[in-house]
Amino acid sequence: MKGRNGLIVYSSKTGNTRKLAEGIRQGLAEAFAGTDEAPELRIAAVEENPDPAEADWVLAGFWADRGTADAKAQQYLKSLEGRKIGLFGTLGAYPDSEHARDIGARVRELAAEKNIVLGCFLCQGKIDPALTERFKNLPPGNPHAMTEERMERHREAAKHPDENDLRAAAAACLAMIKSL
Ligand SMILES: Cc1cc2nc3c(=O)[nH]c(=O)nc-3n(C[C@H](O)[C@H](O)[C@H](O)COP(=O)(O)O)c2cc1C
Repeated sequence: MKGRNGLIVYSSKTGNTRKLAEGIRQGLAEAFAGTDEAPELRIAAVEENPDPAEADWVLAGFWADRGTADAKAQQYLKSLEGRKIGLFGTLGAYPDSEHARDIGARVRELAAEKNIVLGCFLCQGKIDPALTERFKNLPPGNPHAMTEERMERHREAAKHPDENDLRAAAAACLAMIKSL
């Protein structure tokens, strides 16, 4: 593995992606503990606009907003040039759904314009209850109207990110870094 300086930057409105970012930082620290390969890990919220100049790799986290990365994550990704980027994100949809694949592809494409993308990890994150309520109030026939299947997905999302997600995210990011 090359690269001793890592930056983890995340955008998070309700805390899910921040939790994932912290799980990744902890998982990476544990994976490298006692080895002479341990990178310097810096973690920052996207609002801090962390300078990636010293970073050999950047792990960038986003939350899904209307089919793509949220605006703050997009803005930060667009500001990066010539970086090696691992992506991670949380979303309401199931991570193995077509919707999740589309979001992953969109964000990868955006990040890959001026950078090298190492991979993308996605998992569910609890959906803001206010949004669930809004969907419940939509008339049947509206494309976002609540159905029992959707309600079940919201209930499942409410359990995430869980400990397994944090472990899986750290393992995925470790593999991305080790691919360097
Ligand atoms: C305004 C809004 C738009 C959203 N759009 C999507 C979407 O297009 N696809 C999806 O799967 N989840 C969507 N979600 C769910 C969030 O991506 C998910 O709850 C995420 O974990 C929130 O992350 P955070 O807690 O880090 O802010 C949306 C949530 C909100 C509040």
